[in-house]
Amino acid sequence: MTEPIDSPTKSASVNSEHFSRVGEKKFVRGSPHLKHPALATSMLGKVRDVFAQVRQRGDHPEVLDMGAGAGMLTLPLLEMGASVTAADATQALMDILVARAAGFEPRLTLAVGDIFETLAQYEKSGRRFDLICASSFLHHIPDYLKLCRMSAGLIRPNGLFFTFQDPLRYDTLGKGAYWFDRSSYFAWRLFQGNYVQGFKTRLRRLCGICRADLSEDVVEYHVVRNGVDQVSIQQLFEAEGFTCEIQKYWSTQSSLFQHLGVRLGFANTFAIVATRRQNR
Ligand SMILES: C[S@@+](CC[C@H](N)C(=O)[O-])C[C@H]1O[C@@H](n2cnc3c(N)ncnc32)[C@H](O)[C@@H]1O
Repeated sequence: MTEPIDSPTKSASVNSEHFSRVGEKKFVRGSPHLKHPALATSMLGKVRDVFAQVRQRGDHPEVLDMGAGAGMLTLPLLEMGASVTAADATQALMDILVARAAGFEPRLTLAVGDIFETLAQYEKSGRRFDLICASSFLHHIPDYLKLCRMSAGLIRPNGLFFTFQDPLRYDTLGKGAYWFDRSSYFAWRLFQGNYVQGFKTRLRRLCGICRADLSEDVVEYHVVRNGVDQVSIQQLFEAEGFTCEIQKYWSTQSSLFQHLGVRLGFANTFAIVATRRQNR
């Protein structure tokens, strides 16, 4: 039985504890988009393309980076000229981000706390953005459809919603991609140590159990929920008056399997580029 992780505040605080505890080295080792230079470069290319579209509106388009962490998206966006609000529940990561963003302070705002509280506050105050983005974030949010809906409401006409590095809904992967994905993960996991905890976590997942008191279950909640539902996200944005493209690609932690997966043309991860139509 899966305990529903239905309290956003609880999920935010468990995530925050987890990300405060994980050192940067371990975090990068487990994050394909930070670990593999080719993937990081491809992601940066997508960010540039998206930013080029909002750049047409002025010198310093306003961007909200959700789950900004240590600045994977915030830093390049500041360099490109954006005014960025970096939102994250983990103070320790915000501190790293601020140190890295030295010189950009006038264009950087921090919003520390649960993203739902931040979005609700902007909803109320009438604050709007040219671009709302996130990397490796939606799968940490139990109610990511609500998050997408709230974000959609804060985007100006012709503005964009852009995310990447979320796992495709598992039952939409082809059989080959699914098994290659699982093999890639286990080949990598074999060398990561912490085997007793890993074994217990695996056992719970096999039984479909998710415990709201364990960070490894809350942070990776998507694993017992069939990944992230890119089909529903696309439908949601289209219903909200956006054009929405889902871009599928391959990503995994192991360097060898990253190379092989790209070569074999598999996809297990997605990016979203959604643009608000003007006449809504
Ligand atoms: C996997 S990290 C991604 C960090 C960064 N965007 C990157 O790509 O390196 C996920 C981030 O989401 C943040 N987070 C998780 N749940 C959150 C919530 N409910 N509200 C705000 N931030 C949250 C965590 O603190 C963490 O920094």
